[in-house]
Amino acid sequence: LLQMKLIRQITDLNKAIKNFRKIGFVPTMGGLHKGHESLINTSKKKSSKTLVSIFVNPKQFNNFKDYKNYPRKLDNDLKILKKLKVDFVFIPTIKQIYNDNKLSEFKLLKSHKVLCAKYRKGHFEGVLDIINRFIILISPKYIFLGEKDFQQLYLIKKFFEKKYSTKIFSCKTIRNRNKVALSSRNFLLNRDDLKKAGFISQQLIELKSQINKNKDKANYLIKKIKRNLINKYDIKIEYLEARNLTNLGTNIIKKKYKIFIAFYINKVRLIDNF
Ligand code: PAF
Repeated sequence: LLQMKLIRQITDLNKAIKNFRKIGFVPTMGGLHKGHESLINTSKKKSSKTLVSIFVNPKQFNNFKDYKNYPRKLDNDLKILKKLKVDFVFIPTIKQIYNDNKLSEFKLLKSHKVLCAKYRKGHFEGVLDIINRFIILISPKYIFLGEKDFQQLYLIKKFFEKKYSTKIFSCKTIRNRNKVALSSRNFLLNRDDLKKAGFISQQLIELKSQINKNKDKANYLIKKIKRNLINKYDIKIEYLEARNLTNLGTNIIKKKYKIFIAFYINKVRLIDNF
């Protein structure tokens, strides 16, 4: 029986994967949950080998406290990865990854600087930088990412689908039974917060169906629900916006669109889209 291989050094990574041409890659920052499990299972179906990375990437955090508090659950993560029979787990140190000290070469267009890019300065530049480094190190055939982080997925596709032959797969958001999108950050919430998050999701699902019936009223409906959510659940909403999926612009009338939200419950920042 083949065992899961734990890799910490780039030299060992090169040795381990050099004979494989069809690697499916699932980048993570650990704190694994059923959303990650679904990405990994999809990778296992499509690829000959699956490689999962666990790396809390300091460059993509615009706030040091957020970086420090990010959930770290390595023992549990490894248990999950073994259960799923992942082939390779790559857990590099910061030094291994950023040895060359080169600065990120990725600049967002002005039109990209909406939603999370507007509120988390440097975040996506950090994400693009690390994904670029991983693609160079691993040359994966596929990368699997969740739709919960829609703007991340959108930008990774935009920047890398032409640059590399790697194909980016988007995978459906996995939700708990109260409709809360699974996220590592949910580990930072208590039960009441999680319940609140559930109510908020359910209201946004309802909002989407109302907007579907009358797109002209989107702005009005969003304003109304925003007020309600703030009053009822004592949350801070960073943004709540409808945007189209073609260019993330605000024109949704004849286009596919989603409702995007970022909000704080008890200092924990959550994002979702519907
Ligand atoms: O979505 C995440 O967990 C991270 O942004 C990613 C893609 C692993 C890059 O660090």
